[in-house]
Amino acid sequence: MKNLIRFSLALIALMVTSATVCGQQLQDVLSIRPGEIWPDENGQHINAHGGGVLKYGDTYYWFGEHKAEHTSSALVGVTCYSSKDLLHWRNCGVALSVTDEPGDDIERGCVLERPKVIYNKVTKKFCMWFHLELKGKGYNAARYGVALADRPEGPYKFLYSQRANAGTWPMEFEKQELAVIDTLNAANFKEGWTPAWRKAVTQGLFLKRDFGTGQMSRDMTLYVDDDGKAYHIFSSEDNLTLHIAELTADYLHHTGRYTRLSPAGHNEAPAIFKHDGTYWMITSGCTGWDPNEARMFSAPSIWGPWTQHPNPCRGPKAEITFGGQSTFVLTLDDGRNIFMADIWRPRHPIDARYIWLPIEFEDGKPVVRWREEWKISD
Ligand code: DGJ
Repeated sequence: MKNLIRFSLALIALMVTSATVCGQQLQDVLSIRPGEIWPDENGQHINAHGGGVLKYGDTYYWFGEHKAEHTSSALVGVTCYSSKDLLHWRNCGVALSVTDEPGDDIERGCVLERPKVIYNKVTKKFCMWFHLELKGKGYNAARYGVALADRPEGPYKFLYSQRANAGTWPMEFEKQELAVIDTLNAANFKEGWTPAWRKAVTQGLFLKRDFGTGQMSRDMTLYVDDDGKAYHIFSSEDNLTLHIAELTADYLHHTGRYTRLSPAGHNEAPAIFKHDGTYWMITSGCTGWDPNEARMFSAPSIWGPWTQHPNPCRGPKAEITFGGQSTFVLTLDDGRNIFMADIWRPRHPIDARYIWLPIEFEDGKPVVRWREEWKISD
């Protein structure tokens, strides 16, 4: 009798936690489990890496890189998933597709990374920015790309790609800084990573090199501030310095106003959020697909001054960001923030995993504590 009751209870539990899709019985997703397979509503591991989340109406849209089985190059494009509860995700398909046009900026086989989408309330358009490397050119192009759509899930129309802020110095560069930059000569710095070289990078050695062609633009995120102004934050200057660049009112171009964060600090993977009027940025170091220790910065204004703080991660593997690399911070309507990161699998890119963890505050500073599993409602 006892066994029959146990069996019936197990059966009921299974009915509650599973669903039938296309005749297939699927286990329901009951919690967020960082580092585990995260099935979408069809039971397929979500394929939206290096991504970001946009809330539009009562729906969340998760955009990310489609990763293939054996290459990290873009064979498909940017994917989009939608959800009402941040747990169950519906695959909305390809939001921005790569093309088969030889020589096209987003030709299949290019590198298309870290897509982010923001909504422009004035133009009523969805604006996607991403890091783009041209097909067959390694990571040398160092461009950003921009695409536009009428609906959150797309289709997005590719507009253009280029380097950033050609012919413009950072806002903080005044007479004195420009006089110093004038004296910098790349020929004097044949050896990198020396104190003198680091000082010259801080003073703008690479800024000067790329002044005419535009500044390099790799790992990136977008941020819309409370006043509706948007910013593009990206690794520049050979990944040595982050740039924060203001966007035009239509969110489609840079205005030419930009600042540098942590010159020569070697930061990638920027993820920004605001809490009680303070801007917080979590980044990584630069070790390719391998994880490293997260860094954290804060500032009273988007324009700085930015101050560095210790690693915000706590728990097992905190010294390597739990095996992941930051990509985005999602701020919920109630003000809570979710840290999003990727555990890359360069030999099997499609199997890359996600780390989503709540950001707590301790002594006024963000802390990201490891959890095996958690719920938004916790
Ligand atoms: C680290 C970056 O954060 C990733 O987006 C990707 O560009 C890899 N480097 C490539 O090695």
